[in-house]
Amino acid sequence: MSVFPQVRLRRLRRSETVRSMVRETTLSPQDFIYPLFVCHGSGVRTEVGSMPEVYQLSLDQLAGEARATRALGIPAVLLFGLPAEKDPLGHEAYAPDGIVQQAIRTIKDATPELVVVGDVCLCEYTSHGHCGVVEDGQVRNDPTLELIAATAIAQAEAGADIVAPSDMMDGRVGAIRRGLDERGQPEVAIMAYSAKFASGFYGPFREAADSTPAFGDRRAYQMDPANAREAMREIAQDVAEGADLIMVKPALAYLDLISRAREQFDHPLVAYNVSGEYSMVKAAARNGWLDERRVTMEILTGIKRAGADLIISYHAREVSRWLDA
Ligand code: PBG
Repeated sequence: MSVFPQVRLRRLRRSETVRSMVRETTLSPQDFIYPLFVCHGSGVRTEVGSMPEVYQLSLDQLAGEARATRALGIPAVLLFGLPAEKDPLGHEAYAPDGIVQQAIRTIKDATPELVVVGDVCLCEYTSHGHCGVVEDGQVRNDPTLELIAATAIAQAEAGADIVAPSDMMDGRVGAIRRGLDERGQPEVAIMAYSAKFASGFYGPFREAADSTPAFGDRRAYQMDPANAREAMREIAQDVAEGADLIMVKPALAYLDLISRAREQFDHPLVAYNVSGEYSMVKAAARNGWLDERRVTMEILTGIKRAGADLIISYHAREVSRWLDA
Protein backbone atom coordinates (compact mmCIF):
# COMPACT_ATOMS: atom_id res chain seq x y z
CA MET A 1 0.00 0.00 0.00
CA SER A 2 1.35 3.42 -0.88
CA VAL A 3 1.88 5.97 1.89
CA PHE A 4 0.75 8.74 -0.44
CA PRO A 5 -1.16 11.01 0.23
CA GLN A 6 -0.51 10.81 4.01
CA VAL A 7 3.11 11.79 3.43
CA ARG A 8 3.36 15.10 1.60
CA LEU A 9 6.88 16.48 1.81
CA ARG A 10 5.77 19.71 0.16
CA ARG A 11 3.88 20.71 3.34
CA LEU A 12 7.11 22.04 4.78
CA ARG A 13 7.99 24.02 1.67
CA ARG A 14 4.95 26.30 1.62
CA SER A 15 6.50 29.53 2.78
CA GLU A 16 9.95 30.95 3.35
CA THR A 17 9.32 30.99 7.09
CA VAL A 18 8.45 27.30 7.18
CA ARG A 19 11.36 26.48 4.89
CA SER A 20 13.70 28.38 7.16
CA MET A 21 12.43 26.40 10.18
CA VAL A 22 13.38 23.05 8.65
CA ARG A 23 16.56 24.19 6.92
CA GLU A 24 19.37 21.78 7.80
CA THR A 25 22.38 23.81 6.71
CA THR A 26 22.96 27.54 7.06
CA LEU A 27 25.96 29.68 6.22
CA SER A 28 27.45 32.28 8.53
CA PRO A 29 30.43 34.64 8.16
CA GLN A 30 31.95 32.59 10.99
CA ASP A 31 32.34 29.66 8.57
CA PHE A 32 34.88 31.41 6.38
CA ILE A 33 38.60 32.00 6.01
CA TYR A 34 39.41 34.80 3.55
CA PRO A 35 42.59 34.55 1.41
CA LEU A 36 44.79 37.62 0.83
CA PHE A 37 47.68 38.09 -1.61
CA VAL A 38 50.39 40.37 -0.29
CA CYS A 39 53.10 42.09 -2.33
CA HIS A 40 55.93 44.59 -1.87
CA GLY A 41 55.63 48.27 -2.67
CA SER A 42 53.12 50.82 -1.47
CA GLY A 43 49.72 51.86 -2.64
CA VAL A 44 49.46 48.62 -4.64
CA ARG A 45 45.97 47.25 -5.29
CA THR A 46 46.20 45.20 -8.47
CA GLU A 47 43.14 43.24 -9.46
CA VAL A 48 43.93 39.70 -10.59
CA GLY A 49 42.78 39.43 -14.22
CA SER A 50 41.27 35.96 -13.89
CA MET A 51 39.81 36.62 -10.42
CA PRO A 52 37.53 39.71 -10.43
CA GLU A 53 37.44 41.56 -7.08
CA VAL A 54 40.55 39.75 -5.81
CA TYR A 55 43.62 41.96 -5.41
CA GLN A 56 47.34 41.78 -4.86
CA LEU A 57 47.82 44.21 -1.97
CA SER A 58 50.85 45.98 -0.57
CA LEU A 59 51.47 46.07 3.18
CA ASP A 60 49.97 49.54 3.66
CA GLN A 61 46.62 48.23 2.37
CA LEU A 62 46.43 45.37 4.86
CA ALA A 63 45.28 47.05 8.05
CA GLY A 64 42.17 48.37 6.31
CA GLU A 65 41.56 45.05 4.62
CA ALA A 66 41.92 43.15 7.90
CA ARG A 67 39.54 45.48 9.74
CA ALA A 68 36.96 45.28 6.99
CA THR A 69 37.16 41.48 7.00
CA ARG A 70 36.76 41.28 10.76
CA ALA A 71 33.92 43.80 10.71
CA LEU A 72 31.99 41.43 8.46
CA GLY A 73 32.25 38.71 11.13
CA ILE A 74 34.87 36.63 9.32
CA PRO A 75 37.24 35.14 11.91
CA ALA A 76 40.38 34.49 9.86
CA VAL A 77 42.52 35.36 6.86
CA LEU A 78 44.93 33.12 4.94
CA LEU A 79 48.06 34.83 3.64
CA PHE A 80 49.96 34.26 0.39
CA GLY A 81 53.04 36.28 -0.48
CA LEU A 82 54.66 37.61 -3.64
CA PRO A 83 58.38 38.00 -2.92
CA ALA A 84 60.69 40.72 -4.22
CA GLU A 85 62.95 38.08 -5.72
CA LYS A 86 62.68 34.39 -6.45
CA ASP A 87 65.60 31.96 -6.13
CA PRO A 88 66.00 28.18 -6.34
CA LEU A 89 65.58 27.70 -2.57
CA GLY A 90 62.83 30.28 -2.04
CA HIS A 91 64.65 32.26 0.64
CA GLU A 92 62.00 34.91 1.15
CA ALA A 93 59.56 32.28 2.38
CA TYR A 94 61.54 31.85 5.60
CA ALA A 95 63.33 35.22 5.88
CA PRO A 96 62.40 37.01 9.13
CA ASP A 97 61.43 40.07 7.07
CA GLY A 98 59.85 38.10 4.21
CA ILE A 99 56.67 39.55 2.78
CA VAL A 100 54.28 37.23 4.64
CA GLN A 101 56.10 37.73 7.94
CA GLN A 102 55.72 41.50 7.51
CA ALA A 103 52.08 41.05 6.59
CA ILE A 104 51.42 38.95 9.70
CA ARG A 105 52.91 41.66 11.93
CA THR A 106 50.91 44.38 10.19
CA ILE A 107 47.61 42.53 10.52
CA LYS A 108 48.22 41.46 14.12
CA ASP A 109 48.97 45.10 15.00
CA ALA A 110 45.80 46.34 13.33
CA THR A 111 43.36 43.61 14.42
CA PRO A 112 44.84 41.33 17.09
CA GLU A 113 41.62 39.31 17.33
CA LEU A 114 41.62 38.36 13.63
CA VAL A 115 43.13 34.88 13.30
CA VAL A 116 46.05 34.88 10.89
CA VAL A 117 46.83 31.72 8.95
CA GLY A 118 50.06 31.57 6.94
CA ASP A 119 50.16 29.42 3.83
CA VAL A 120 53.39 27.46 4.13
CA CYS A 121 54.80 26.63 0.71
CA LEU A 122 57.83 27.46 -1.41
CA CYS A 123 56.19 27.69 -4.85
CA GLU A 124 55.59 31.45 -4.76
CA TYR A 125 59.24 31.99 -3.78
CA THR A 126 61.19 29.56 -5.96
CA SER A 127 62.53 30.56 -9.38
CA HIS A 128 61.37 27.18 -10.79
CA GLY A 129 57.91 27.55 -9.24
CA HIS A 130 57.83 24.11 -7.60
CA CYS A 131 56.79 23.53 -3.99
CA GLY A 132 60.09 21.91 -3.02
CA VAL A 133 63.81 21.76 -3.58
CA VAL A 134 64.67 20.73 -7.15
CA GLU A 135 67.68 18.51 -7.77
CA ASP A 136 68.39 16.88 -11.14
CA GLY A 137 65.00 18.01 -12.41
CA GLN A 138 63.18 16.26 -9.51
CA VAL A 139 61.31 17.78 -6.58
CA ARG A 140 63.11 16.24 -3.60
CA ASN A 141 61.14 15.46 -0.48
CA ASP A 142 63.47 15.35 2.51
CA PRO A 143 65.63 18.40 1.75
CA THR A 144 62.38 20.37 1.41
CA LEU A 145 61.16 19.53 4.92
CA GLU A 146 63.75 21.70 6.62
CA LEU A 147 62.77 24.75 4.52
CA ILE A 148 59.08 24.15 5.09
CA ALA A 149 59.66 23.95 8.85
CA ALA A 150 61.78 27.13 8.70
CA THR A 151 58.93 28.91 6.90
CA ALA A 152 56.41 27.83 9.53
CA ILE A 153 58.77 28.97 12.31
CA ALA A 154 59.30 32.37 10.64
CA GLN A 155 55.54 32.84 10.36
CA ALA A 156 54.97 31.74 13.97
CA GLU A 157 57.65 34.12 15.21
CA ALA A 158 55.97 36.94 13.28
CA GLY A 159 52.74 36.17 15.14
CA ALA A 160 50.77 33.70 12.98
CA ASP A 161 48.11 31.79 14.92
CA ILE A 162 47.97 28.89 12.47
CA VAL A 163 50.38 27.62 9.81
CA ALA A 164 49.02 25.78 6.77
CA PRO A 165 51.43 23.59 4.80
CA SER A 166 50.25 23.20 1.20
CA ASP A 167 53.27 21.58 -0.44
CA MET A 168 52.23 17.90 -0.13
CA MET A 169 55.71 16.64 0.81
CA ASP A 170 55.64 13.51 2.97
CA GLY A 171 56.43 14.15 6.62
CA ARG A 172 55.90 17.91 6.53
CA VAL A 173 53.38 18.11 9.35
CA GLY A 174 55.71 16.22 11.69
CA ALA A 175 58.69 18.35 10.63
CA ILE A 176 56.72 21.55 11.27
CA ARG A 177 55.40 20.37 14.64
CA ARG A 178 58.91 19.45 15.82
CA GLY A 179 60.33 22.72 14.50
CA LEU A 180 57.66 24.85 16.17
CA ASP A 181 57.96 23.03 19.49
CA GLU A 182 61.75 23.28 19.51
CA ARG A 183 61.53 27.02 18.87
CA GLY A 184 59.13 27.61 21.75
CA GLN A 185 55.97 27.83 19.61
CA PRO A 186 53.90 24.92 20.95
CA GLU A 187 50.68 26.95 20.79
CA VAL A 188 50.74 27.57 17.06
CA ALA A 189 48.30 25.20 15.32
CA ILE A 190 48.77 23.33 12.04
CA MET A 191 46.06 23.36 9.41
CA ALA A 192 47.23 20.69 6.98
CA TYR A 193 46.30 20.72 3.32
CA SER A 194 45.98 16.97 3.78
CA ALA A 195 44.14 15.80 0.68
CA LYS A 196 45.33 18.27 -1.93
CA PHE A 197 44.84 17.20 -5.51
CA ALA A 198 46.84 18.06 -8.64
CA SER A 199 44.05 20.18 -10.04
CA GLY A 200 43.34 22.31 -13.07
CA PHE A 201 41.17 24.45 -10.78
CA TYR A 202 44.28 26.21 -9.40
CA GLY A 203 44.83 28.00 -12.73
CA PRO A 204 43.73 31.52 -11.70
CA PHE A 205 45.59 31.27 -8.37
CA ARG A 206 48.84 30.79 -10.21
CA GLU A 207 48.30 34.15 -11.85
CA ALA A 208 47.40 35.74 -8.50
CA ALA A 209 50.41 34.26 -6.68
CA ASP A 210 52.72 34.10 -9.69
CA SER A 211 53.52 30.47 -8.91
CA THR A 212 53.24 28.53 -12.17
CA PRO A 213 55.89 25.77 -12.35
CA ALA A 214 58.60 26.64 -14.90
CA PHE A 215 58.75 23.00 -16.03
CA GLY A 216 56.51 19.97 -15.63
CA ASP A 217 53.57 19.98 -13.24
CA ARG A 218 52.79 19.05 -9.63
CA ARG A 219 51.57 15.50 -10.21
CA ALA A 220 54.62 13.94 -8.58
CA TYR A 221 53.61 15.43 -5.22
CA GLN A 222 49.95 16.51 -5.30
CA MET A 223 47.33 13.75 -5.42
CA ASP A 224 45.78 12.05 -8.42
CA PRO A 225 42.16 13.34 -8.74
CA ALA A 226 40.96 9.75 -9.16
CA ASN A 227 41.93 8.60 -5.66
CA ALA A 228 39.59 8.61 -2.68
CA ARG A 229 41.02 5.91 -0.41
CA GLU A 230 44.47 7.45 -0.75
CA ALA A 231 43.00 10.78 0.35
CA MET A 232 41.89 9.17 3.62
CA ARG A 233 45.41 7.75 4.08
CA GLU A 234 46.88 11.24 3.55
CA ILE A 235 44.56 12.67 6.19
CA ALA A 236 45.31 9.85 8.64
CA GLN A 237 49.02 10.44 8.14
CA ASP A 238 48.72 14.17 8.87
CA VAL A 239 46.60 13.45 11.94
CA ALA A 240 49.27 11.02 13.18
CA GLU A 241 51.95 13.66 12.65
CA GLY A 242 50.03 16.24 14.68
CA ALA A 243 47.71 18.19 12.38
CA ASP A 244 45.15 20.24 14.33
CA LEU A 245 42.85 20.90 11.37
CA ILE A 246 42.60 18.85 8.18
CA MET A 247 41.67 19.96 4.67
CA VAL A 248 40.27 18.73 1.38
CA LYS A 249 41.20 20.81 -1.67
CA PRO A 250 39.65 21.66 -4.14
CA ALA A 251 36.10 21.44 -2.81
CA LEU A 252 33.55 21.14 -5.60
CA ALA A 253 34.83 18.13 -7.52
CA TYR A 254 35.70 16.46 -4.19
CA LEU A 255 32.49 16.76 -2.14
CA ASP A 256 32.47 12.99 -1.66
CA LEU A 257 35.83 13.25 0.09
CA ILE A 258 34.63 16.06 2.34
CA SER A 259 31.75 13.88 3.45
CA ARG A 260 33.95 10.80 3.82
CA ALA A 261 36.53 12.74 5.85
CA ARG A 262 33.70 14.10 8.03
CA GLU A 263 32.66 10.52 8.82
CA GLN A 264 36.13 9.13 9.40
CA PHE A 265 37.82 11.92 11.37
CA ASP A 266 36.81 14.10 14.29
CA HIS A 267 39.26 16.91 13.54
CA PRO A 268 37.92 20.25 12.37
CA LEU A 269 37.55 19.87 8.62
CA VAL A 270 38.38 22.66 6.19
CA ALA A 271 37.44 22.77 2.51
CA TYR A 272 39.21 25.04 0.03
CA ASN A 273 36.82 26.57 -2.51
CA VAL A 274 39.70 27.27 -4.90
CA SER A 275 40.42 29.98 -7.44
CA GLY A 276 39.04 28.15 -10.48
CA GLU A 277 35.77 27.45 -8.67
CA TYR A 278 35.50 31.17 -7.94
CA SER A 279 36.48 32.33 -11.42
CA MET A 280 33.97 30.04 -13.16
CA VAL A 281 31.11 31.61 -11.24
CA LYS A 282 32.39 35.16 -11.85
CA ALA A 283 32.88 34.56 -15.57
CA ALA A 284 29.47 33.00 -16.07
CA ALA A 285 27.80 35.73 -14.01
CA ARG A 286 29.51 38.44 -16.05
CA ASN A 287 28.16 36.86 -19.19
CA GLY A 288 24.68 36.89 -17.70
CA TRP A 289 24.59 33.09 -17.81
CA LEU A 290 24.10 32.46 -14.08
CA ASP A 291 22.56 34.27 -11.12
CA GLU A 292 25.77 34.99 -9.23
CA ARG A 293 24.38 35.35 -5.75
CA ARG A 294 22.16 32.31 -5.96
CA VAL A 295 24.83 30.05 -7.43
CA THR A 296 27.50 31.21 -4.97
CA MET A 297 25.23 30.52 -1.99
CA GLU A 298 24.26 27.14 -3.43
CA ILE A 299 27.89 26.11 -3.92
CA LEU A 300 29.00 27.18 -0.44
CA THR A 301 25.95 25.62 1.20
CA GLY A 302 26.76 22.40 -0.64
CA ILE A 303 30.33 22.41 0.67
CA LYS A 304 29.08 22.92 4.21
CA ARG A 305 26.32 20.32 3.81
CA ALA A 306 28.97 17.83 2.67
CA GLY A 307 30.60 18.24 6.08
CA ALA A 308 33.07 21.14 6.05
CA ASP A 309 33.36 23.10 9.30
CA LEU A 310 35.29 25.91 7.65
CA ILE A 311 35.51 27.09 4.06
CA ILE A 312 38.44 28.99 2.58
CA SER A 313 36.82 31.12 -0.09
CA TYR A 314 37.41 34.21 -2.21
CA HIS A 315 33.63 34.69 -1.97
CA ALA A 316 33.85 35.07 1.84
CA ARG A 317 33.45 38.82 1.97
CA GLU A 318 30.66 39.22 -0.55
CA VAL A 319 28.77 36.34 1.04
CA SER A 320 29.14 37.82 4.50
CA ARG A 321 27.75 41.09 3.13
CA TRP A 322 24.76 39.27 1.62
CA LEU A 323 24.12 37.36 4.85
CA ASP A 324 24.13 40.63 6.76
CA ALA A 325 21.69 42.36 4.38
C1 PBG B 1 50.54 26.66 -3.07
C2 PBG B 1 49.06 26.76 -3.16
C3 PBG B 1 48.25 26.66 -4.31
C4 PBG B 1 46.96 26.96 -3.88
C5 PBG B 1 47.00 27.18 -2.51
N1 PBG B 1 48.32 27.04 -2.08
C6 PBG B 1 48.60 26.44 -5.74
C7 PBG B 1 49.12 25.13 -6.19
O1 PBG B 1 49.23 24.17 -5.44
O2 PBG B 1 49.47 25.09 -7.36
C8 PBG B 1 45.74 27.02 -4.76
C9 PBG B 1 44.64 27.89 -4.28
C10 PBG B 1 43.62 28.26 -5.28
O3 PBG B 1 43.60 27.79 -6.44
O4 PBG B 1 42.77 29.06 -4.91
N2 PBG B 1 51.09 25.40 -3.13
